[in-house]
Amino acid sequence: MAYKIAVIPGDGVGPEVIEAALHVIEPLIDAEFVEGEAGDECTEKHGDPLPEDTLELCREADAVLFGAAGETAADVIVRLRQELDLYANIRPVRGFPGLRELTGKPYVRDDVDFVIVRENTEGLYSGIEGRFRDTAYTLRIITEEGTRRIAEVACDLAEERGSNVVTCVHKANVMRETCGIFREVCKEVVESRGLEFEEYYVDAAAMFMITEPERFNVIVTSNMFGDILSDEAAALVGGLGLAPSGNVGDRYGLFEPVHGSAPDIAGKGIANPFATILSAAMMLEWLGEDEAAEAVREAVGEAIREGVVTPDLGGDKKTMEVAEFVREAALNLVQ
Ligand code: NAI
Ligand code: MG
Repeated sequence: MAYKIAVIPGDGVGPEVIEAALHVIEPLIDAEFVEGEAGDECTEKHGDPLPEDTLELCREADAVLFGAAGETAADVIVRLRQELDLYANIRPVRGFPGLRELTGKPYVRDDVDFVIVRENTEGLYSGIEGRFRDTAYTLRIITEEGTRRIAEVACDLAEERGSNVVTCVHKANVMRETCGIFREVCKEVVESRGLEFEEYYVDAAAMFMITEPERFNVIVTSNMFGDILSDEAAALVGGLGLAPSGNVGDRYGLFEPVHGSAPDIAGKGIANPFATILSAAMMLEWLGEDEAAEAVREAVGEAIREGVVTPDLGGDKKTMEVAEFVREAALNLVQ
């Protein structure tokens, strides 16, 4: 079956890393890639960061591959998450052998493999804020239904990964109501699925993520905790240039690197394409193209072992040189 993939390159390094990811996956699937505009440049051109026809393209497509937006990111990616009801933000954290030596960073681990499932639509990022004279507030909304569906996604992932444990990260000793409902509903869902419910307070989880990351397999958490913990986790495995993500709902899936438009390196051809290539691999897996997805991941591992990497990982290769290597390696693996 030919897929229709909506591609939104966006701003800054977005188009560079998207070009690289498409170069890798094009020969692996039967798909039509249709480009849509969004972001800062799009705003300058059309006066709208996310035009209706781009939204429509996303709704018609089988999946969306997104690069990065610049200053308009909130109007683009946050809005897309809402419009397409992409309630689960899935952020895999996987080390690659050889990265510590390559990067020279002593805290980089090659032996970690866990995934953070972050609730993407409620919590402290509800956007419901106010200010009264000298006092400001944000409403932290957590619903039973919102929690139930994110917990189900975490259980699905635990089963896929062959684990019987789901780890809930919260702070219910202090935020008794909002974290209370999150904890209760997660526990109920996890146990009803015949899995083991494990829990950590978020502060302790942040510490153990550095000292004993092997404790974790599937973490389910609320919006802001997940945002913060996933950047901490990205650092553990080599930084933002390597961190992929998926935003999925019951119907739509949008896949994007965790990083932004990186204006400091845009236009130089040195952006690390791995985060976007690995996001494209997540997209392939979500579409059911498991063999192609695995080949892409293996090929990225090979590039790292061979030192075919961009400057942020200690190499001297250009974005498209890395992409070319990964494309060939992935093609060899599927043949
Ligand atoms: P950023 O992620 O763009 O950059 C942070 C640092 O990481 C920079 O030093 C950058 O050079 C480096 N970096 C990022 N991606 C890289 C890659 N692929 N290869 C090598 N190095 C990489 O975050 P920053 O600087 O806070 O934001 C820049 C712009 O991006 C802002 O306008 C922000 O609004 C936007 N942004 C967009 C996001 C999205 O579209 N999902 C997410 C985060 C930020
Ligand atoms: Mg973030």
